[in-house]
Amino acid sequence: MRKLSPTFIYFFGALGGLLFGYDTGVISGALLFIEKDLNVQSWAEGWITSAVLLGAVIGAMTIGPMSDRYGRKKLLLLSAVIFFVGALGSGFSNTVTLLIISRIILGIAVGAASALVPTYLSELSPAEIRGSVSTMFQLMIMTGILLAYISNYVLQGVAGNWHWMLGLAAVPAALLFIGGLLLPESPRFLVRHNNEKQAREVLNMINNNPDAVDAEIADISLMANEEKKGGFEELFGKMSRPVLIMAMGLAIFQQVMGCNTVLYFAPSIFVSVGFGDSAALLAHVGIGIFNVIVTYIAMKCMDKVDRRWMLNFGAWGMGISLVMMSAGMMLDNSFGFAKYLAVIALTVYIAFFSATWGPVMWVMIGESFPLNIRGLGNSFGAVVNWAANFVVSLTFLPLLSFFGTGKIFLLYAAFCFLSIWFTSKKVIETRGKTLEQIEAELHHRANHNVENSMSNEIA
Ligand code: BGC
Repeated sequence: MRKLSPTFIYFFGALGGLLFGYDTGVISGALLFIEKDLNVQSWAEGWITSAVLLGAVIGAMTIGPMSDRYGRKKLLLLSAVIFFVGALGSGFSNTVTLLIISRIILGIAVGAASALVPTYLSELSPAEIRGSVSTMFQLMIMTGILLAYISNYVLQGVAGNWHWMLGLAAVPAALLFIGGLLLPESPRFLVRHNNEKQAREVLNMINNNPDAVDAEIADISLMANEEKKGGFEELFGKMSRPVLIMAMGLAIFQQVMGCNTVLYFAPSIFVSVGFGDSAALLAHVGIGIFNVIVTYIAMKCMDKVDRRWMLNFGAWGMGISLVMMSAGMMLDNSFGFAKYLAVIALTVYIAFFSATWGPVMWVMIGESFPLNIRGLGNSFGAVVNWAANFVVSLTFLPLLSFFGTGKIFLLYAAFCFLSIWFTSKKVIETRGKTLEQIEAELHHRANHNVENSMSNEIA
């Protein structure tokens, strides 16, 4: 097996995130030109925007679960091919229908990546740095979003602008495929499929300490050799249930706290404080840069602070800044400073999201499920997240006209505060534990509960 540096492996392992970010971020800017060019009706506008979300639900649901059977790497390669086809298809589209179909195809790849990458990264990294390595996925998402904003800004004046904006995603897709060919299979998957020799070679690339590798292989084998049911029966079974509830809650809360609607709203908030249209787009680029920087800092802190603490810290910060933003928007006409309050609160909100709920949700759904159903569990979490994303974006405009600009953000703030209760009740701490320790704890919990209920019955 070709020897690769851990940085190479982590970089290409996480690269799917860049396409995720680019393909979801590019459409808001591109749509301005698509509308004029293709004479888009309002029903089609909604479809062009949400086609990726719909595709993502399909991709996470169908491609992700196959990774427990065929391996993480093969499916990553498959998603790179789908990314490529979807990007070229969108770039070359000359009718609305073709564009919507291409965006659904692209979405399938985005969903697949979100169901595969967190598991792949968590299975490849040593426990002490697993949080940081898995956060690379979110860092790539934010970098992809930033590249999308930049391309929207730079390509506005170019002939065939939107075709380029959408089609350019084919470049990282090709890179993902080429890099992906070199990537090793996940060592956990290899052990589970009786390929200990190759698993050892992969772990040796990542960890220079042969004793630690021996111990890791022994631990993984112990988990891999246990008699288990697998599939949905195991996913919904007693042992996995606490993680399933945790993953579903994290996936839903991450969306209903309003991250995508706030990002979507950012340019209009900038316009409301007096930026011109073009300056607002530039400020959007500024937000993109800020996002990447904050996520990078979060990556550095991820293994130093408990995940539960980060979630609660983030929820308080996001909740409070949403209340401030809302106040700023409601006071808008009466006080000059109110508009600035809205801009500052929006920036603070984004910082809290990028540092906490953004990465932590993906890190945790990639690392918490037992080996046997890790791919399936990650996919399940991803499907729930995309479905929640779809519902939030579908309900956003009707809610906006019902509540008004200011008040709608109070609704999202309420979810932030509710998440604090959820985290304290349902989230299991995973920082610093090996994947096998996390699994052993789940076992212990399930057995302990059985013993408890038996002794209750006897009593
Ligand atoms: C979320 C996406 C969001 C992205 C950028 C991810 O963690 O799951 O819905 O678009 O971060 O904010």
